[in-house]
Amino acid sequence: MPQPTHDQLTAALAKVDDPEIRKPITELGMVQDLAIDDAGVASVTILLTVAACPLKDTLTRDVTAALRGVPGVSDARVTLGVMTDEQRAELKTKLRGGAPEKEIPFAKPGSLTRVYAVASGKGGVGKSSVTANLAAALAEQGLKVGVVDADIYGFSIPRMLGVSGQPTQVDDMILPPVAHDVKVISIGMFVPGNQPVVWRGPMLHRALNQFLADVFWGDLDVLLLDLPPGTGDVAISIAQLIPNAEILVVTTPQQAAAEVAERAGAIAAQTRQRVVGVVENMSWLELPDGTRQELFGSGGGAQVAASLTRLLGAEAPLLGQIPIDVTLREGADAGMPVVLGSPTSPAATALRGIAKTLATRSRGLAGRSLGLTPSGR
Ligand SMILES: Nc1ncnc2c1ncn2[C@@H]1O[C@H](COP(=O)(O)OP(=O)(O)OP(=O)(O)O)[C@@H](O)[C@H]1O
Ligand SMILES: [Mg+2]
Repeated sequence: MPQPTHDQLTAALAKVDDPEIRKPITELGMVQDLAIDDAGVASVTILLTVAACPLKDTLTRDVTAALRGVPGVSDARVTLGVMTDEQRAELKTKLRGGAPEKEIPFAKPGSLTRVYAVASGKGGVGKSSVTANLAAALAEQGLKVGVVDADIYGFSIPRMLGVSGQPTQVDDMILPPVAHDVKVISIGMFVPGNQPVVWRGPMLHRALNQFLADVFWGDLDVLLLDLPPGTGDVAISIAQLIPNAEILVVTTPQQAAAEVAERAGAIAAQTRQRVVGVVENMSWLELPDGTRQELFGSGGGAQVAASLTRLLGAEAPLLGQIPIDVTLREGADAGMPVVLGSPTSPAATALRGIAKTLATRSRGLAGRSLGLTPSGR
């Protein structure tokens, strides 16, 4: 067997992505001293972004497997190193594509990322469950998806998506952990233990800005923002930071919840944002005999959709109705979204339908807001 060339070995390594940055290690300047000896033993040094890289075992395994897969390689030796400050600076420039620092990529006029802010008004109606499941379903459909848990006080996304890892910090750039192919960032990742966060408006705004500007998201198709309940500071901040974010309203069928959800959606009239649609959650419970028990009444979703359409003068459709489903709650507790864990369950079917509707909306700039500041502020 002839010895593989340096180019062949490099080509094999080009198929290995850095598990966090999700780009080929050969493009990230992580490959050094690639060689092969007479016995066919390939050796390489992989430069980590930071010494404490949590995924170095994964990386070592992937690199070893890639080299061993090249015909003529009898074995592979991987040495781990760490980038110098200059190498890290170079990497950061490369990742930013030469863009200046501290810019929110999604707010730029040419951005093709669709940003959906999931809002409700009332608490506990299932915003976070909807966000986590739509993210997982959209990623499964092949889209590049990110989630920001913007519920600073009641962060729950990391648990629902089963993210236990911490973000890796490369100087002032934050690499988000990935779960179910979704990049996830949450304030919960920066708070030790289960401490409550007591932040006022300006600090919240700064934290959100950081999540959006300092986190390396890469080229996303969809960014989902899980908002806290209510119509408060976070919604206003989002409107200012990403004016082209569209609002996805979640409600239950209950009259009281629907009225509050309407108010949450109506904020779009002031911030000149679009409402992409309404999701009704906990719509009914299917009984063993097939009948539907409407525990929380009926009609809330349709009512919110109709009145927001009227108020905003633009179609705010009812995107779907999600039944009450034990598998959804179990999935959330186990970190395995129901759309992946039991994809044929009633709730998963409804959620995947909504994801499909969102996925088929084309990337593009049509109908985007002009990014004016909210009136009255
Ligand atoms: N369709 C459903 N079937 C069964 N359980 C559900 C359903 N939707 C949500 N739940 C459960 O209801 C609880 C509240 O849901 P979730 O945390 O998603 O709501 P939320 O609107 O994000 O709440 P908060 O306002 O506190 O952020 C969770 O325990 C969740 O697992
Ligand atoms: Mg929530």
